[in-house]
Amino acid sequence: MIGIFDSGVGGLSVFREIYKLLPDQEYVFYADSANCPYGDKSAAQIQERCSEITEFLLKKGAQIIVVACNTATAAAISYLREKYSSVKFIGMEPAVKPAALGTKSGVIGVLATAGTLKGSKYLKTKGEWEDNVKIVEHVGRGFVELVESGELTGPKAEEVVKASLQPLLDEGADTIVLGCTHYPFLRQTISKIAGEGVKVIDPAGAVARHLIYVMVQERLLSEVEATEALARIAGENLMPAAKPKVELISSGDGTVLEKTFENLI
Ligand code: DGL
Repeated sequence: MIGIFDSGVGGLSVFREIYKLLPDQEYVFYADSANCPYGDKSAAQIQERCSEITEFLLKKGAQIIVVACNTATAAAISYLREKYSSVKFIGMEPAVKPAALGTKSGVIGVLATAGTLKGSKYLKTKGEWEDNVKIVEHVGRGFVELVESGELTGPKAEEVVKASLQPLLDEGADTIVLGCTHYPFLRQTISKIAGEGVKVIDPAGAVARHLIYVMVQERLLSEVEATEALARIAGENLMPAAKPKVELISSGDGTVLEKTFENLI
């Protein structure tokens, strides 16, 4: 069983990509919506929540855990790996590398939470690419709240998104990295404001592929199953027709999670 968690419903954008490749697996998804957002919380607070959620997922039978949250990864993944040394954790990081390799204007924009942007992992990656490209960043102010309330399009969503995205576009960014798992739910609005010439990058697909690799290493997936999973990328990579075997759990209002999930599948 694969355990996945996020500060809220955003992690479903990662579940979606994993499920497309591994439709026969069993999943337990935990949304910590009662404590969302994590973006402005201290590392200690996030570590405490992540620890509690990890224990909950392990009790549920999770054999591997996907931290489907950039902010939680930045604040807590090292802590979790040390505390639960026998458990494999897969984390998230803003996709600076593919953005830097693909930009034509030489400017990439990163949208993420304050916690992610000050995380040492992100700062290290940024430092490695800064000689080649200009990296501009902005906190997606109010984005998480929009997604948690299900307001993904329309005038209010556009106003909120524009306030954080426009400064990056004004700097010349032709590639926008979605550094928070909530943000892909706003992709339509982001693309509308950014315009056709701007590429939007979501790392969820890469995380799904990395999960397969680690599952093979951990003998949670056979080579044959992994080959089949990766072949789905080469195919249409569409949502599987079968209903997913997933238990959805929220620490807050579960109706938002259910609704977001229904729209996903
Ligand atoms: N989904 C989380 C992330 O990927 C952040 C949302 C929050 O601030 O709680 O960073």
